[in-house]
Amino acid sequence: SHRLTAVAGLALLPLAGCSGLAEADGEGKTLILSLNQTETHPSYIALTEFGDRLAERTDGRWDVEVYANETLGAQQEVIQLVGDGAVDMAVASGTQLENLNDEFQTLNLPTVFDDIDHQLEVVNDDAVVGGLFTSLEDSKNLTVLGGLTQGARNVYTAEGPVKRPEDLAGLKIRVQESDIHIDMIRAMGGSATPMSYGEVYTALQSGVLDGAENNEVSYMSQKHNEVAKHMARTEHLIGLDYVVMNTGLLEGMTEQDRTVFEEEWVAASEHHAELWKTETEKAIAAAEESGTVFNDVDEAAFDEALAPVVDKYLQTDSARELYDEVRKAAQE
Ligand code: GCU
Repeated sequence: SHRLTAVAGLALLPLAGCSGLAEADGEGKTLILSLNQTETHPSYIALTEFGDRLAERTDGRWDVEVYANETLGAQQEVIQLVGDGAVDMAVASGTQLENLNDEFQTLNLPTVFDDIDHQLEVVNDDAVVGGLFTSLEDSKNLTVLGGLTQGARNVYTAEGPVKRPEDLAGLKIRVQESDIHIDMIRAMGGSATPMSYGEVYTALQSGVLDGAENNEVSYMSQKHNEVAKHMARTEHLIGLDYVVMNTGLLEGMTEQDRTVFEEEWVAASEHHAELWKTETEKAIAAAEESGTVFNDVDEAAFDEALAPVVDKYLQTDSARELYDEVRKAAQE
């Protein structure tokens, strides 16, 4: 297991920094990948397997070691470390990349994706996302390898049920550190409190927060069901994670290794999508079993509340073009 204490995790960073840069000559290395999820999460499972397959196909020259549970830091800090070469790879929510380049905002909006399959079709279409995925290379030394779904996100609260935007009035709802998500929760009627993922459980438990929003897999793996028992099926957006990698490291690979790397990435992302669906079913069943009460919401009221937020972030031509392109793919 790759569980480290926080202290051991930090002690490892300078070391990783040296080897990360020194071995960017293509010899291979065990890539250190930072994840903020538990070892039961589909992303941990799919990315650990990615490492195993990579090691198998490169005679152990390349491997991936996934550090779970935010051991190496929260996403916002860790993506800087990946750019610096102190950490090799990370899973980062689209909300974090939005803070580095606002062209990522469009894919973080409500209404952009219809469902997981539509989302994956878009993020696997180089013609649509190729420019976006390489857009951080020159400025940040970060390459986006691809996307992993976060599934549909719902609002959950300690007290409930939440059925209409007015039910969220005065409730402090945790959001990711993102302008869009702050605007989104405000529009949905709540009071938005940005916070990193790992802090949410304690904040819910102590009453600093009244609720949060996430997919069912995260809700259960983070044990938020223990402290927020009302889940409103708002499905306000389909969230998107990205796997980012230090650009120098990727460019330092031999052509042959890079081909293997990309083939195995595709296999891992396909496995992730399959796992996502079964794990979501399981999480919903386990949540119900543990006493979580799910309720439907007044969808039209939430749609109406969110429409101005979507508009606000589609004011530039490039944002509007990307949005239209993604919507076109949904209609095909
Ligand atoms: C999901 C997502 C994470 C993100 C988290 C959050 O779990 O997969 O990447 O950090 O939501 O709400 O912060």
